[in-house]
Amino acid sequence: MNIIGIESSCDETAVSIINDEQVLVSLISSQELHKEYGGVVPEFASREHMKNIDSLVAKAFDESGLTINDINGIAVTRGPGLMGALLVGLSYAKGLSFATQIPLIGVNHIEGHIIANFLNHPNLEYPFLCCLVSGGHTQIVHVKDFQNYEIMGKSIDDAAGEAFDKAARILGLGYPGGPIIDALAKSGNPKFFRFPRAQIKNRPNDFSFSGLKTSVLYLTKQEKPEWIKNNIHHICASYQEAIIDSLQKKTFKIQEEIQARRIVLAGGVAANSRLREIFQKKAAGRKVEIYFPSLAYCTDNAAMIAKTGMEMLKRNRTSSLDIKAIPNLRLID
Ligand SMILES: Nc1ncnc2c1ncn2[C@@H]1O[C@H](COP(=O)(O)OP(=O)(O)O)[C@@H](O)[C@H]1O
Ligand SMILES: [Mg+2]
Repeated sequence: MNIIGIESSCDETAVSIINDEQVLVSLISSQELHKEYGGVVPEFASREHMKNIDSLVAKAFDESGLTINDINGIAVTRGPGLMGALLVGLSYAKGLSFATQIPLIGVNHIEGHIIANFLNHPNLEYPFLCCLVSGGHTQIVHVKDFQNYEIMGKSIDDAAGEAFDKAARILGLGYPGGPIIDALAKSGNPKFFRFPRAQIKNRPNDFSFSGLKTSVLYLTKQEKPEWIKNNIHHICASYQEAIIDSLQKKTFKIQEEIQARRIVLAGGVAANSRLREIFQKKAAGRKVEIYFPSLAYCTDNAAMIAKTGMEMLKRNRTSSLDIKAIPNLRLID
């Protein structure tokens, strides 16, 4: 079975072709123009997707050595994401499916991040507990089986990725902030400054990260720019530690409660080197298996969409041509 995957939910135009054994090609066209705005400008994102999608699909076929006649399914992100951006990928996939009669499969982007783990770990078994951390989402999901999920915890405000990006903007470090803070934190002291770890009354499994960025703002207001500059590594290490502390404490608390034998990381923030280190250490101490995707499959990509589409096609869960793009699509209805 050969599946083509198309992803355009935010600021990466991505196309991938996979078969049952492997990823044949995974292409990503990143949109650098948003950097100067410190975040994604939705209208520019849609225009860039329009510019890039057709040539990226052609390049994917070139590099895979396959043609459209070899394709058994067309998987495409239908949400969550930016409406204009989603519509570019979805309309393209619908056109391709209509013209070729190849089944269309509308995929949930968040689910794609979870299933991305099977690209690197084909022997990963259900059930597992997933700590899903991206720019738009932070959820702890009990993955009982494919498309059988229970949300155990979530953020009541900012997502973990957003917390990284907003702090980086306040500190003038650039966008996206996560990888920049990760790099600077490597030579910093995570105990240098105690940033808050929010606890929400009567909601022990939920997160709140909005207060964190406020505390960075206060720090930049109370300290001289010179001091911030001289201690930026320590500030990044301490800030990152506060985010990771909340994520690991609540994930392992739930792991204990449901006696989960496997923990899986997913989403762009799962690329964070300190997060991986801390989760691996804690899991080893509890004889819990830990899995996370390779860096290329943590942040947005189309291979995760193709893989999810393949699993859906195997279960005849295809879509009709009138499916809609849903900007706030949830993992569970
Ligand atoms: N090494 C890293 N450490 C922390 N956060 C990271 C790292 N790499 C990427 N991120 C964050 O991941 C988020 C992007 O996640 P991704 O799933 O690709 O996008 P989206 O949220 O649009 O679906 C951004 O907030 C980015 O800062
Ligand atoms: Mg994503």
